Amino acid sequence: MDVTILKDSDAVAAAGTDLLRGVLRQKPNAVLGLATGRTPLAMYQRLIAVCCDEGFSFRDVTTFNLDEYIGLSPDDPQSYRAYMKRELFDHIDIDQGNTFLPECATETDPLDVGPAYEALIRSRGGIDLQVLGIGHNGHIGFNEPTSSLKSRTRIKTLTRETISANKQYFKDPAAQPQLAVTMGIATIMDARRIMLLATGKEKAEAVRQTIEGPVSAMCPASILQMHEAVSVLLDEAAASALTLRDYYDWIAEQKLRIAGNTEGR
Ligand code: PGA
Repeated sequence: MDVTILKDSDAVAAAGTDLLRGVLRQKPNAVLGLATGRTPLAMYQRLIAVCCDEGFSFRDVTTFNLDEYIGLSPDDPQSYRAYMKRELFDHIDIDQGNTFLPECATETDPLDVGPAYEALIRSRGGIDLQVLGIGHNGHIGFNEPTSSLKSRTRIKTLTRETISANKQYFKDPAAQPQLAVTMGIATIMDARRIMLLATGKEKAEAVRQTIEGPVSAMCPASILQMHEAVSVLLDEAAASALTLRDYYDWIAEQKLRIAGNTEGR
């Protein structure tokens, strides 16, 4: 894993934006995996700000979101479709016909949504860059602890902890869904490149288990240790429980040295 520890959440958003721009520069029609939640918001604001600068466009990009609640209509403000429109899609030049979430329309059998989503991702050539946040409990997408590390897109029952972490977004607690469709862990692992963003002290323990703990379904994000192209972008607070902190700083110094040596070549 490539672990980068940055001063604060702004610096994490800036680094995430740079990484994503780099992918689109190389492949303007890239397929992006996107996340919702608090963490990627600052990066989305930056992407909106730079969108349509010369040479940077989402015109040919396809996106697949990690998850969507079951039981909310797409125009419900708490749906992840509504979140994505509000926080990103409505403000960039993407063709919204190429933006996908594992949505479960009322007439659809929820059991069909996962396999159809998997087929759609495959038909678009697979995900080039997957953006991830992380839950306090180490979940990625809504793959809660004990999710199969080989899981595919499917229905998932949210933990009480996740429901509690997200209840701030629901005025009426009775309207908060307890089920979601989420990309599986194997689906996420199929992405060619992964960028995990984490900010804030409340993520520190999950981050430590992800990077330094054993690979275990008890911390679903720990499976990322088995992926060959993962960039973890952390602020100081989210990095505060890491035990090999000196080593990550040392690596960062070496990278700067290498960049300096190759500059101008
Ligand atoms: P957050 O959620 O960005 O709102 O903290 C992340 C997650 O639960 O995956």
